[in-house]
Amino acid sequence: MTIAALSRAVATGALAVAVATSGWSQPAPIPQFPPGPNFAGVAGSPAEHARITALCGPNRNARDGYSTTPAFPGQTKAPIVTGKQGYAVQTVAKIDRPFGMDFLPDGRMLVSFRNGGMRLVSLDGAVSEPLANVPQMVQPRLGSGMYDVIVDRDFARNRTIYFTYHTRFATDSAAMGRVASARLSADSRSLEDVKVLREGADIQPRRIVQARDGTLLIMSAGNLADVGPAPQTLSSQTGKVLRINRDGTIPKDNPFLSNPQANPAVWALGFRDIHSALIHPRTGELWAAENTPMGGDELNVIRAGRNYGMPVISYGRQNSGALINGGKTAQAGMEQPLYYWTPSFAPSGFMLYTGRAFPEWRGDLFIGGMSGEQLVRLEMKGERVVAEEKLLMDRCQRIKVVKQGPDGNIYVLTDEMAPEQNEILRIVPARTVPAQRQPVVKTAAPSTPAAASEVGAAVYGRACASCHGPQGAGASGPRIAGRTDTEVVATVVRNGQGAMPPLGGVLSAAEIEAVSRHVGQLPR
Ligand code: HEC
Repeated sequence: MTIAALSRAVATGALAVAVATSGWSQPAPIPQFPPGPNFAGVAGSPAEHARITALCGPNRNARDGYSTTPAFPGQTKAPIVTGKQGYAVQTVAKIDRPFGMDFLPDGRMLVSFRNGGMRLVSLDGAVSEPLANVPQMVQPRLGSGMYDVIVDRDFARNRTIYFTYHTRFATDSAAMGRVASARLSADSRSLEDVKVLREGADIQPRRIVQARDGTLLIMSAGNLADVGPAPQTLSSQTGKVLRINRDGTIPKDNPFLSNPQANPAVWALGFRDIHSALIHPRTGELWAAENTPMGGDELNVIRAGRNYGMPVISYGRQNSGALINGGKTAQAGMEQPLYYWTPSFAPSGFMLYTGRAFPEWRGDLFIGGMSGEQLVRLEMKGERVVAEEKLLMDRCQRIKVVKQGPDGNIYVLTDEMAPEQNEILRIVPARTVPAQRQPVVKTAAPSTPAAASEVGAAVYGRACASCHGPQGAGASGPRIAGRTDTEVVATVVRNGQGAMPPLGGVLSAAEIEAVSRHVGQLPR
């Protein structure tokens, strides 16, 4: 089927089919969508997707071509550009898996680690011993552990920091989310006077930012599996932005104080999982990018008392693929995102560049992608996204933090699961845009049949499995296992077909021949 035919079919819902239900339970049918024009996933174009897939392996976000109609032109899929700003990437230090980072006034980075603890890292890469007196994380797992850390705007005077975490101590009946403050000791080796400012089993305090008036805004995630109703329930702190004073008290102008049912800390509602938050340097407003389960990641300006829609409206779906509220994307009284991404890139870390080192990037937004393994750069016109660039994709690293350094350079912290595999990267100006890294291309024909079949299996694993499944049984691309018409397969691989990208530019002739034979050997 052609791309046009596929997108017509998606638009009319003609290809939505129900999966079987079992036993007494009658779960809502999960619609299936074929690969669509969006199959290129998070990488931009089909050719770029093929290049990145060959380098980094499959990306799980681009499962199918589900796509929704935007509320206004330009709300999604801004033109993907390659900017003119030259830059180079340096590795400052190797570290454990981080979550948050903020700069101290003396230029050092204060880094929090997912598995617990904090360290100071100087701009030349010297990593301190762990700070003493940081609350210990108990069995940090996916979705739990130490989260963000920020430095008070008056740190030079009060040496105060704020940090967030989610864990279960011996005294807790359930895992608790906590927002804490502390003072960094005069010798910068330990925390003093650690105080819990707010806690609750219904708080997942992913990010924290400090507004101009000194109050703390806390991004409390919603249900991380399929989204339930809590983000819309004012009595719950789940799926909310919370606002508290520096001492943990409730600000007198919080928006829901006159509602006796509402939790007094709630400041805005209707969220899934915000990992990206900043105070806009010009307007002082809260900007955030949000993870939705599958597709539909959002960019928003978040304002007091407003409702951002989850799970009543969404441009994404549940992790299972089930539609959220029948696929509804708009409702009166609920905010529309400034911009959204389908498929997801899993936004984390957020920065608006204001420095002098990169003149072409001044005023641009930068957002790290976790599963999307990229640094997104957005060119803005007011609150409109006018262009998007995908940076650092060929490094194949999850990105957790992006911050402008005191030197005007850009600091990026990676987020690989394995300990000690993460890096603090520094993006510095250079005369030219770095050349794109190409997948390793073997040109010499393999000398023995055994070597040829090894090459075929290896090429299949890195260039085909993401779309056709590990054994060729089909995924977003069709079943191809057991196809013995090797010449036809080779032609499709070289030239592409419909929604399948041409791979002639990324694979050598020998690799194409080997992979086409390998397809024929996969069990039908
Ligand atoms: C980015 C996803 C993607 C990748 C990577 C990919 N394919 Fe495909 N492939 C598709 C899609 C989608 C189709 C269906 C195209 C259409 O007809 O619209 C397809 C079609 C095909 C077909 C034709 C099937 C038919 O019956 O018409 C063959 C053969 C094939 N792919 C082989 C491969 C091989 C071998 C590789 C690895 C070298 C590969 N593909 C990599 C997505 C992909």
